[in-house]
Amino acid sequence: NQVSIIGVPFNGGQPQKGVEKGPLRLVESGLAEQLQELGWQVDYEANEHIGELRPASDPDVMNLKQPKFVSAVTQNVAHQIHERAKQGKFVLTLGGDHSVALATVSGVFGSYPNACLVWVDAHADINTPEATDSGNIHGCPLSFLMGLSTDHPDFQWVKPVLKSNRLVYIGLRDLDSYEKKTIKSLGIKAFTMHHVDKYGIGKVVDMALDHVNPNRDLPIHLSFDVDALDPSVAPSTGTPVRGGLTFREGHYICEAIAETGLLVAADIMEVNPALEDEAAVAQTVQVGCSLARCCLGETLL
Ligand code: ARG
Ligand code: MN
Ligand code: MN
Ligand code: MN
Repeated sequence: NQVSIIGVPFNGGQPQKGVEKGPLRLVESGLAEQLQELGWQVDYEANEHIGELRPASDPDVMNLKQPKFVSAVTQNVAHQIHERAKQGKFVLTLGGDHSVALATVSGVFGSYPNACLVWVDAHADINTPEATDSGNIHGCPLSFLMGLSTDHPDFQWVKPVLKSNRLVYIGLRDLDSYEKKTIKSLGIKAFTMHHVDKYGIGKVVDMALDHVNPNRDLPIHLSFDVDALDPSVAPSTGTPVRGGLTFREGHYICEAIAETGLLVAADIMEVNPALEDEAAVAQTVQVGCSLARCCLGETLL
């Protein structure tokens, strides 16, 4: 069994420096060796030169900041991921900010058109270029991938590969008003922290999979923004929100999805080693590695 680690050292989807250092930190702390230990054959693309895709001029278009840079990087990485997935490799993408999901979902669904997407995040990341208040594209990838944003000139390459009934959220707790409206009007299944409190994480994951994968026969892509975890668990991230998933709840999601045997790709996003002190960074990096290992089959016993 082969896994391709795709590092995406990219921060252009949001304003804070440091998140581009996430992938290297995860790899330097031994992630590739840990996956080999689990029995995987590992290859690694660091994408060290991705910053060179930054255009000389990149003015805001509609409300979006750095649209050309985000578009160029994500289109490039989408092709890498598509190639790996086509070869039957598990694709493990390390962010970078969550705008990189434009690449991961495009690449994975290009190879597995019937896949479903489990989005674990404090945020819904479904703003459109018109609706976004911040203009940060890491808050927008799902609107492009679902075809809610079709008229932005820089993102014409993004195909609406994701149907509303193939997406499920877990961990939400900080949504913009446009995002709330959209989730309700499209009938997107969303398990907020309220639902995690009410039902417990075991039942939530069951219900989430029942919705997007009722017969347990479709490929699964998991996109895990570490800010889904409580800031006490994963402090070094750009947009922390209190009241998040515990350490075990986060790992349980990965374990339970891996256990289905249907997981084909996972993203570990928004680890920012420039935020908080070195102990907090080490803690966040370790959590990122252990989530990734759970996605690739590590179990407690
Ligand atoms: N909803 C806010 C925005 O549009 C926050 C998004 C945070 N996204 C993330 N991937 N951390 O800017
Ligand atoms: Mn291709
Ligand atoms: Mn988030
Ligand atoms: Mn996110």
